[in-house]
Amino acid sequence: MISIAVDGPSGAGKSTLSRRLAAELGYIYVDTGAMYRTIGLYALRKGADLDSEAQLAALLPEIHLEMRYVDGVQHMFLNGEDVSGLIRTEEVSMAASHVSAHPAVRAFLLETQRGLARENNVLMDGRDIGTVVLPDAQVKIFLTASAEERARRRYDELAARGENVSYEQVLADVRQRDYNDTHRAAAPLCAAQDAVTVDTTGCDFEQSFQMMLDVIRRAPKQED
Ligand code: DC
Repeated sequence: MISIAVDGPSGAGKSTLSRRLAAELGYIYVDTGAMYRTIGLYALRKGADLDSEAQLAALLPEIHLEMRYVDGVQHMFLNGEDVSGLIRTEEVSMAASHVSAHPAVRAFLLETQRGLARENNVLMDGRDIGTVVLPDAQVKIFLTASAEERARRRYDELAARGENVSYEQVLADVRQRDYNDTHRAAAPLCAAQDAVTVDTTGCDFEQSFQMMLDVIRRAPKQED
């Protein structure tokens, strides 16, 4: 099986680019952020203290996560409910950033993620895929862009959806999430030693897509 790991900070365009790349290659796309978001949503609904590992660990056995692929697109189901749309709000983004800091939450998801890669050719995106989840991935890409550019993209996305937020607030959230993701003790965001960094600052979708495809096509180990 072939695994491609794509890591990087929030808003670098990982999901959109990864989805398209996976479709191009005929691989399964695994959006691991969606899994953390779903746990964040559940914790919010339960009114849990997002910074309490004990409270989060107590909730995990109540959570049944399922990913179903509809036309190659991953839908997240939380205890049977399709939450794919609900997990995309700013509130859930921030909750995901908090819950993902807990080793118990990360351990809960690790086996699911590795299992998918054992059974399928995958393009998996997240924060620790190349470093922790799939250290033997044949291709590792660290996708990044400046905080300002990532905030601008995110702001445009939220505004198009009618969410009432300011650019300054989105930029502050991006910086806060970067800080949380890179400073946590458990599997912090960092590029794997053997990852190729792709910086998409100033690049449009097609340019970014081509840069990633070039990295994948140049990678040596492509045979099953
Ligand atoms: O990629 P995303 O924005 O959907 O991720 C949501 C949160 O989950 C983000 O704050 C980082 C966290 N995350 C993580 O810790 N590890 C992953 N493999 C994927 C996401």
